[in-house]
Amino acid sequence: MRKVLQFNDWLYRKNFTAEDVTDCSDRGFCPVTVPHANQEIPLNYFDEKIYQFLSCYKKTFRVPTEYWGKRVFIEFEGVANAAEVYLNGKLVGEHKGAYTPFKFEITDDLVYSEENRFVVKVDSTERPDIPPFGYLIDYLCYGGIYREVSLIITDEIAIDRLQLKPMDVMKPMKKLSVTVFLNSRKEKSGIPVTARLLKDGAAVREETVRPDLPAGGSKVEILMEELSGIALWDPEDPQLYTVEVQIEDSVYRDRFGFREIRFAVDGFYLNGKKMKFRGLDRHQSYPYIGYAMPKRAQRKDADILKEDLAVNIVRTSHYPQSRHFLNRCDEIGLLVFEELPGWQHIGDEAWKELSCRDVKDMVERDYNHPSIVIWGVRINESQNDFEFYERTNRIAHEIDSTRPTGGVKYVEGVDFQEDVYVMNDFQTGFECRKHRDQNISTGLKKDVPYMISEFVGLFHPTKRFDTEQHRVEHALRHAWGHDEIALDDRICGAIAWCAFDYNTHYQFGSGDRVCYHGVMDMFRLPKHWAADFYASQQDPEVRPILAPATMWTNGDRQNGGFLPLYIFTNCDKVEFRFRDTLAATFYPSRHLFAGLKHAPIRVEKIKMDWDCWSWEDGEFIGYVNNAPVIEKHFAKDPYPAALVAKSDDDELTAQHPEEAYDTTRIVFEEVDQAGNSMDFLMEPIEFIVSGPGRLIGPDKTAMQGGCIAAWVKTTGEPGIIRVHAKTSRFVSNVVEITVR
Ligand code: GAL
Repeated sequence: MRKVLQFNDWLYRKNFTAEDVTDCSDRGFCPVTVPHANQEIPLNYFDEKIYQFLSCYKKTFRVPTEYWGKRVFIEFEGVANAAEVYLNGKLVGEHKGAYTPFKFEITDDLVYSEENRFVVKVDSTERPDIPPFGYLIDYLCYGGIYREVSLIITDEIAIDRLQLKPMDVMKPMKKLSVTVFLNSRKEKSGIPVTARLLKDGAAVREETVRPDLPAGGSKVEILMEELSGIALWDPEDPQLYTVEVQIEDSVYRDRFGFREIRFAVDGFYLNGKKMKFRGLDRHQSYPYIGYAMPKRAQRKDADILKEDLAVNIVRTSHYPQSRHFLNRCDEIGLLVFEELPGWQHIGDEAWKELSCRDVKDMVERDYNHPSIVIWGVRINESQNDFEFYERTNRIAHEIDSTRPTGGVKYVEGVDFQEDVYVMNDFQTGFECRKHRDQNISTGLKKDVPYMISEFVGLFHPTKRFDTEQHRVEHALRHAWGHDEIALDDRICGAIAWCAFDYNTHYQFGSGDRVCYHGVMDMFRLPKHWAADFYASQQDPEVRPILAPATMWTNGDRQNGGFLPLYIFTNCDKVEFRFRDTLAATFYPSRHLFAGLKHAPIRVEKIKMDWDCWSWEDGEFIGYVNNAPVIEKHFAKDPYPAALVAKSDDDELTAQHPEEAYDTTRIVFEEVDQAGNSMDFLMEPIEFIVSGPGRLIGPDKTAMQGGCIAAWVKTTGEPGIIRVHAKTSRFVSNVVEITVR
């Protein structure tokens, strides 16, 4: 058997003393459910020491009689930043580092006829002995048991993981190598190990081998040959397969895809087709609870990146991220650059040892994700350390011969020890300055596979409620960057800094503990118009986009006016009308953005027979193949007309075998009479929740530029959650979410 029990309900207290290991009283503890943040924090302006403390998680547990005589393991998917796990007063294991899972066997430490007591000491301080700490870092790592915990029950032979390696992917007959990593309590001979390749639940192939297994850890290789009729995994059509391995009554499954990747000096190829990266970096943090977001919200981020921002790659800066996020990337065909934890600083030998372990754990955990195309094995923007990076490269290559390594650099001429030269090139994305030539970055005479992993970022921090001019420039920097990179055939593509605003230390960002570098804010609300630029790069058949980059006023820019006007759109022409007459027709400015599939429109002049004192309503209509597909109206005198509430999901799950609780986001927006967002509106707002749901974060806050969002989470009961909000002027509609 192989049974995974969720183990997410704990008791929690905000400190830890040595007596906790043996003290059986629950005084001072409160019940919590994992993913859990050790401390909720304000949105901004807080002392980042408030979550950096030791805390204690406790759980009592009786082993059901059906599991007596079985092997039992406890697995933690992520604890920030270090954990000591005690069972019945005895230390069963310790783990340093927030981003990789760890598992301990507890079979011999459990008592079977009585209650067992787990105590976890969680250290959320920034310990200089643990990567990424030791110097400064531009992000927060928060604290707590912030990813799921499970109890795994197995027979004598425990399957630890599978490594699924498709081969001859571009040939009609393909191969698949299945490596089963397992662990047996006793030596066993001739045990049948069966691997089944499944597509949508139906078996494509089955192979059985009968190896002799030594006691302890070992691996079994199974090769499937002459596989025909296999559908490839591709960003446009991400076909996934499952391998199921059975040993006696234990079944272990994992998902993967058949696809071939190649980084060449002239670009990146997927399944033999050239593809240019247009991506964004992602931090995994959220308002108030930091990293502790459950499955649905993690998956939603991947959807936002692929659907709303139309990017084709994301970098998990600067650490391995939630498996839920990666699973969704596999399902929707969003490529991933995954990297080890770290930021500029390299510590001592023990620190490097942990960092090497992080590389190993990352590659082993995530090997089977077809979305991952490159491993980042160099601490982001660190200095040279030839020996250390020989090791990180070797570890990744030894485990995974199918993917290249990259190492993110930011100064020129750094040691090139990886397969792909990766550069944070902040020269990218200016109107009259261009990205570095790759030979200048690398200091090499010959070309190598090369990509850009960050641009814009700190060169143009932007808030959702900044001035029109500033936000137009923000959108343009992203557009200029992707445009120039698209035109350089010697670059695989570029990833910009970054997708979402994030909390940071006081030394970085805007001083209020926020880095406003996202094209969306921390609530994943779009910044107009950088988010619209990204959205505009998708096919209009999928979603037409029409975003004239203006507040439709004469007075928000320096020196007045709203020209030049940029329109971010994927339409082939845009008509401008006022007073019901057609005033002008605009076409994409291909001469200015030759590299972009959907060039923004730059309008120098509009002939309007009014002056700024007699302003008029404006109307833009976007056409695709001569048919009108989208309209945008502007009111000359915007005023708030309604407070609209909209939820990401109408249905949630009360309890799920693999998830502790469910969550969804509700966006509240005050719109004007034309339905437009009111980007300078800041007023108090109160959320009202009833039914089996609870707010994450405060119930009273302020609108940030006409908009705000809140996540509600389930309490474990089924029913209907009703959410609405009130401002001084409006009561919103009521959003109903059914919890099943
Ligand atoms: C980079 C760094 C990122 C972020 C960014 C801000 O140098 O890699 O983590 O700090 O700057 O622009």
